[in-house]
Amino acid sequence: MTHFLDIHTTSPEDLRGIIDQAGAMKQARKDRPKGAPDDDQPLKGRMVALIFEKPSTRTRVSFDVGVRQMGGETMVLSGADMQLGHGETIADTARVMSRYVDLIMIRTFEEQTLLEMAEHATVPVINGLTNRTHPCQIMADVMTFEEHRGPIAGKKVVWSGDGNNVFASFAHAAGQFGFDLTFTGPETLDPEKTWLDWAAAKGRPVTIDRNPERAVAGADLVVTDTWVSMHDPQSARERRHNQLRPYQVNEALMAHAKPDALFMHCLPAHRDDEATSAVMDGPHSVIFDEAENRLHAQKAVMRYCLGV
Ligand code: CP
Ligand code: NVA
Repeated sequence: MTHFLDIHTTSPEDLRGIIDQAGAMKQARKDRPKGAPDDDQPLKGRMVALIFEKPSTRTRVSFDVGVRQMGGETMVLSGADMQLGHGETIADTARVMSRYVDLIMIRTFEEQTLLEMAEHATVPVINGLTNRTHPCQIMADVMTFEEHRGPIAGKKVVWSGDGNNVFASFAHAAGQFGFDLTFTGPETLDPEKTWLDWAAAKGRPVTIDRNPERAVAGADLVVTDTWVSMHDPQSARERRHNQLRPYQVNEALMAHAKPDALFMHCLPAHRDDEATSAVMDGPHSVIFDEAENRLHAQKAVMRYCLGV
């Protein structure tokens, strides 16, 4: 069974294969006559379940469209409407779903839910975000960087803000794709030590610098994300905003990066909180390419999982 649970649990060779296939499929789609169906229908006759226990725009739409472009069918399920949300065990849900569908994508809160789903399902399971990681996003981000600037290996990537789930997958990618990663943010919102230790053991220790201007110096890529994630309590909102305000990505901060540095944000963004509109809509920004590449990268992830 080939699941796609995280970047650090997928081999660098497989990750590279996924990125390459995503690029090839994107190009093939561009090259076909407008409106013509894709030649390649590797998911024909397959049913994909998309389970959401949290809101989503990009993940939901890009997976749904991606499956259809490859000739398959989808069902989008809200966790709250399933028995999963009313006491049926994850293991039983996984066993039952496996009798109906060929692939399961799940966005959930606890990582344990994803892991139990993968342990008990007899079909592949894809991580569509948990409180701890967001691997599909970072596959799209690596693809986007390389489209614009060539190989990401050896480049300097700087994360400014909350050491959250999206950062965690960047730390994994630093180890697997071989780039330098710097974190700048308040100590209270540092990334999980487990992930920092993992990257260090891979020979890519994450640099931590509390001074955002110094951290961003010479960056090839500057990244940020929301200051309050979906799993964070709303009661923490004001405290987080106060702590993270010095780490806002604005034009003054971007001026410390390389002149041709890229800016990324997985979206949804809170404009003029974690990043200013001037940066989001400015010359460094590739945020909408990132969003588009969710589609291409996840199509390749699904083919990898199904071996088609
Ligand atoms: N970036 C991302 O995963 O967006 P959604 O929450 O809209 O899926
Ligand atoms: N860190 C954010 C990412 C959303 C795509 C969250 O978990 O809410």
